[in-house]
Amino acid sequence: MITNMTIDSDAPDLRRSSQPVSPVSGQTPGPSDPLPAEQGPPTRGASAGGPSTQCVHAGEVRQKSEGAISTPIYTASTFTFESTDAILRFVQGDEQREEYGRYGCPNEKSVEAKLAALDHAEEAILYSSGMAAIVGLLMTKLSAGDEIVFFDQCYHRSREFCSKHLSRFGVITHQVPTGDFDALESAITSRTKMLVSESPTNPHLTVVDLEKFAAVGKANEVETLIDATLATPFNINPIDFGVDYVWHSATKYLGGHNDLLAGVICGRHDSLEPVRGMRGILGSINSPQNLYMLERGLKTFGLRMQRHNENGLAVAQFLEKHPRVSRVYYPGAESHPTSSIARQQMRGFGGLITFEVKDADWKQTSRIVDAAKLARIAPSLGGVESLIEQPYVMSYFNYTPEDRKRFGIADNMIRMSCGIEDTEDLIADIEQALTA
Ligand SMILES: Cc1ncc(COP(=O)(O)O)c(C=O)c1O
Repeated sequence: MITNMTIDSDAPDLRRSSQPVSPVSGQTPGPSDPLPAEQGPPTRGASAGGPSTQCVHAGEVRQKSEGAISTPIYTASTFTFESTDAILRFVQGDEQREEYGRYGCPNEKSVEAKLAALDHAEEAILYSSGMAAIVGLLMTKLSAGDEIVFFDQCYHRSREFCSKHLSRFGVITHQVPTGDFDALESAITSRTKMLVSESPTNPHLTVVDLEKFAAVGKANEVETLIDATLATPFNINPIDFGVDYVWHSATKYLGGHNDLLAGVICGRHDSLEPVRGMRGILGSINSPQNLYMLERGLKTFGLRMQRHNENGLAVAQFLEKHPRVSRVYYPGAESHPTSSIARQQMRGFGGLITFEVKDADWKQTSRIVDAAKLARIAPSLGGVESLIEQPYVMSYFNYTPEDRKRFGIADNMIRMSCGIEDTEDLIADIEQALTA
């Protein structure tokens, strides 16, 4: 059984921030923004309001260069100073402005402020991909001898980075079963610096009780990080539950058009200051053109998410009743073990569904994937085009059968990212594919 959740009509109250948005994210005038005559300094707009209003207006100055309504693309690798005095004002901290492209640019300021407003965060830091974001955060926060604990259902590259690569720098990672809070607490030692989880998880769509997760962190004085890529700030704001850092692959729903890569970490200004400094060294930044595309994609984020939520729910409901489907993983599905926490904490469940084909081996399963006509066969998720893939073949083919079993990747699993196409077309497509 799948919960029939009203996706849009009466949700706005839930989606509005009860928290003030800090001046850092919402209101700071951009140093490169022109001062419009007679209007005083420009302010970054609409940190208040619902998520769709914020998508359109937050983070942008009201009056832009030459009166352009959209943010101009500042294609500059460096920013000029009019004099040595101007440099001194900048290096002494008397004037905030751009300096060099690796440290930031006006397009980045605008998108970061928009994302911070959407995630109810003081600050957001953008990276060139989701993976660059997690690497940037953890490389800043962890030192040799430190430990992290993470819930074991997660994007395979996050697991790989933590278990294979952080270990080379003397950081120990512990994996515990997702949602097992006793195991989480037991794994914490005096050296633990970070608790990490996805919610919902990829590809099992398990929802973690964020209130509990944050409370465990606080009780043990350990920071908490949630990868909310699959949920997006449209469906949940982990910071409102007390989580310290929210991480998104902006490649997915935030960009939303399967045409760019980006990543973001949101959190408190003081905690993120050294992270921003480290990013200036790592250089994992976005081009102004990419940032413009991300900003443009974000304008319709609210609308797109409504449709992703509707399509995800409808396709999951269809799959649950289909005789060829033995199991559906979707946070809105009552059969999902974490559906009650999903309904308590989330405003919608997104467009990603994983399901298992009844009595099928991997080849029979791949025939269904190959038969899809509308959904395109590709990794990734969260874009306007629906995508379909078989995790066994796409991401886990080079893992041992034992590891696949350990990570819960069944041969007969299909993962489908519902795009924004018409619901009935998506259902018709998957229906005909299931007859293959
Ligand atoms: C849940 C999740 N987190 C992080 C990432 C990494 O993001 P990116 O591909 O933008 O580096 C992915 C990528 O698929 C993902 O699914």
